[in-house]
Amino acid sequence: MGAPDDPGYSIEQIDVARALTLRHALLNPAGPGTSVVHAGDHDSASMHFGAYRNDVLIGVATLIPAQVPGAGSSVEVTGVAVEHGHRGRGIGHLLLDACIAAATDSGAASLTAAVPALAHGFFRHEGFGRVGDPYEAVDGTPHYRMARPLDPDSE
Ligand SMILES: CC(C)(COP(=O)(O)OP(=O)(O)OC[C@H]1O[C@@H](n2cnc3c(N)ncnc32)[C@H](O)[C@@H]1OP(=O)(O)O)[C@@H](O)C(=O)NCCC(=O)NCCS
Repeated sequence: MGAPDDPGYSIEQIDVARALTLRHALLNPAGPGTSVVHAGDHDSASMHFGAYRNDVLIGVATLIPAQVPGAGSSVEVTGVAVEHGHRGRGIGHLLLDACIAAATDSGAASLTAAVPALAHGFFRHEGFGRVGDPYEAVDGTPHYRMARPLDPDSE
């Protein structure tokens, strides 16, 4: 599934400033930059991944160790976004793959996410299942909590 045929695409770890700049441009360009910053984004344990095409950053995803009491050894994936002109080419899949590999390496038992309803099908396709009822995010859009078990023997 999903691996782009175009050899110009690559996934790299990037710094938080680059990740936040593209996340802002793709997820809430009309709002303030702070609207897309999540707790934990600047933590040293968090990891930001970028998808490049010919040296241009066209996709992002972030992995944040869970800070929710009782969440156990889960890791949160957030801010997954791909430039419009590059969607549907397997880039989101590659970004999630990088997050899944890094989260598995960290020893976490599961990967969790707060997913907009519009992206729910993508996460389900990538092995995530819904946890609980839908809810409204602070911006009023419907979201789901989703989770995917990690297999430490798969790495
Ligand atoms: C969600 C998003 C990251 C997907 O990125 P993408 O590069 O277009 O996804 P891919 O091309 O890697 O898709 C991987 C697979 O998921 C499927 N898929 C993608 N979006 C889907 C959707 N909304 N519903 C169902 N399946 C979907 C693709 O068909 C593909 O399946 P295939 O391998 O069988 O062909 C992208 O659409 C996006 O940036 N959306 C806006 C931001 C957003 O909502 N992010 C979500 C969380 S913060």
